[in-house]
Amino acid sequence: MNWKVCANAPAVGTRLATIGDLPHDTPVGFTLGGGKDAFRGLIVRLGDRVKAYVNRCPHYAVPLNRDGDGFYVLPDNRVMCVVHCAVFGLEDGICVDGPVRGDRLMVIPVAVKDDGSVVVSDQPVE
Ligand code: FES
Repeated sequence: MNWKVCANAPAVGTRLATIGDLPHDTPVGFTLGGGKDAFRGLIVRLGDRVKAYVNRCPHYAVPLNRDGDGFYVLPDNRVMCVVHCAVFGLEDGICVDGPVRGDRLMVIPVAVKDDGSVVVSDQPVE
């Protein structure tokens, strides 16, 4: 499933954050829209790069964290789903352990502009 077909998915060019406001190696959640159609994402700064993913575990299609809580971050830039403990790499979103090993979080392509804004990009996802 492509992130663009999710309800309330952000359009290309949507500003999601400012890189200087993002903590290093710690995902930050964001929500667009509300109710059952809310679009939930997570964004993380890894050095001078920023990665973003749909906050939807490929196991049961639920958020990796509980509402209002931060993410369960593991060493080596990994994050764990709090429901059944699937572990995903923050570099590529690939599940490296747990019930959906080998599956991947949906990647939201982002770019960092000269002013530090992190925006949704139209670059293809590798
Ligand atoms: S819902 Fe995430 S591991 Fe089961």
